[in-house]
Parts: sequence; C-alpha cells; structure tokens
Amino acid sequence: MADIDEDAAAVQRHIWTIGDYPAVARRMFEVAESTVELAGIDAGQRVLDVATGDGNAALLAVRRGASVVGVDLTPAQLDKALTRLAAEGVTVELRPGDAQALDIGDDEFDVVISVLGMIFAPDHAAALREMVRVCRPGGTVAAAAWAEGGWMGRWRAAVAEQLAPGSAPTPAPNAGPDAWGDPDEVRRRFAAVGLDVELHERVLDWSFPSPEAALDFYLEASGPFIAFMDGMRRRGLQDEARQLLHQCMVDADTSSSAEAGCHLESPYLVMVARLPR
Ligand SMILES: C[S@@+](CC[C@H](N)C(=O)[O-])C[C@H]1O[C@@H](n2cnc3c(N)ncnc32)[C@H](O)[C@@H]1O
Repeated sequence: MADIDEDAAAVQRHIWTIGDYPAVARRMFEVAESTVELAGIDAGQRVLDVATGDGNAALLAVRRGASVVGVDLTPAQLDKALTRLAAEGVTVELRPGDAQALDIGDDEFDVVISVLGMIFAPDHAAALREMVRVCRPGGTVAAAAWAEGGWMGRWRAAVAEQLAPGSAPTPAPNAGPDAWGDPDEVRRRFAAVGLDVELHERVLDWSFPSPEAALDFYLEASGPFIAFMDGMRRRGLQDEARQLLHQCMVDADTSSSAEAGCHLESPYLVMVARLPR
C-alpha cells in the first residue's frame, strides 16, 4: 500500500476546488470521448473511473450501458459530479478516494479508466499498480495524459520557472503529470506492471476568440492557473505573471490570422492495456 503524501493531496484538493471546473471539463469532453472509445467500454461492463472530476468519462460510460463507480480525491469535485450526473439523469456511484490506495477489492472491474486524472498522483507507480489490481484478468486499463510539446506542456514549463514556493501546481520534472506524456516513459511504467500498452495520440484544440479571451477564461475557471496567479500575487508579481501567461498563449497560438481566433492545441496520449486472462 502506498504512503500518501498528505501535503501534496491538500494542494491537489485546493487546485481542483477553486475556479469553475465544469467549464474547463466541458472543453475537455472529447478527451474522455476518445479514452472511453479506445478502452472499448460496452454495455453490461463494470467500469471504474479514477479521478472522475465532475464525471466526463463516467457519464459516457453509463451512456454506453456500463455500470460505473467514480472515485476522486477532491470532495468539491464529487459534489459537482453528483449535481451534473443527476441533471443528466444517470446513476454513478461516487466515492471519495485516492488513486494511489483505492479502497476497492482486487479484480472488481472490467474496465478501469482515468482521464487526465491519476497522472496527478505523486506516486505514479502506485497509481498504475492500483488501476491494474482492481481490474479483472482479461480486463482493460486505460488512461489519458497531456503529451509533450503542446499548449499544456508549454504553459506548465513557463510557470514552473516562476512559481512561488508552496504554490506549485506541478511537481518536479519526470515525477509530475507531464511524465505521463512521454511515450517511452509510459511504456516503461506499464512494463513495470507486466503489461504492453497501446498508445494513441490525439489533439485537443482549445479555441477562443483571442489570446486575451483565452487568458480571461483560464484565470477565471482553471484551478492550476488560479493557483499560479495566487502564488505570484503573494510575491507582488501578478502583472508579470499575467504577461507571462499572455505571452505563452500568443506563442502557442496556431491560428493563421487574428480573424481565425486563438487556437491552443494540446496533444494528448491515450494509453490502453489489456490484462492477460
Ligand atoms: C484535470 S481533472 C480530470 C477530471 C476528469 N477525469 C475529467 O476528465 O474531467 C483531475 C482530477 O484528478 C483528481 N485527483 C488528483 N489527484 C488524485 C488522486 N491522487 N486520487 C484521485 N483523484 C485525484 C482531482 O481531484 C481532479 O478531479
């Protein structure tokens, strides 16, 4: 059983409580769609959605006829999931829990999925081991992570250099969520639990009318951005921080003209492993 780093867990809970997570999640819905599709979730299956957030993947799995349990570290996320899933008229069993130490028996699920979720667990090996442990022989483990080189990596790299101590939304290189975006590292991590993994790269396009509109959106809705700005504000560096983020957006914008708006492309990896029977 993994030792849980309670300080890191408190930072995560804070980040995913502030802001307007549902507004961010609606923009990331297609990442859940790709992952559910590639995992092959089907009617009658028992599915565990690890780090369910407000339930993007859980909702899609129920719509396919699966029975779904969603686990998340952050109580505020589970509250949002409850409200949203009730409004959608679907039933998902929601439980508080940590991806690194799931309170679930061995082999209980046909599919164990995590969309941009378990990547935030500090002990990556424990998080993957737990997903595999609770999946039955012959079942499927699938996860999505931001890949290298896109908008998500770019802003996090810029921010990592500027962070106020103690406000870090991103842990050290090779230990944080971005390491799950490196195909070789992902293969090594799955090999360590005795599995081959298929990797699929997709691109999410965060589109906005302008870089300024993008900045306003992230600073109002996205927990990691808000936490970064709060840390910089405590150091009296909010103007510099705003400028840094704006410059990141301008640099990352792949649109051909101002009329085409602002497009922040974020490649992501979907990893799928089938367990031996
Ligand atoms: C970017 S959100 C993704 C949520 C959801 N899967 C989605 O696609 O919208 C990251 C989620 O991971 C959760 N999380 C972070 N660390 C976790 C951990 N160790 N165990 C369980 N959930 C965790 C957060 O509370 C948050 O809801």
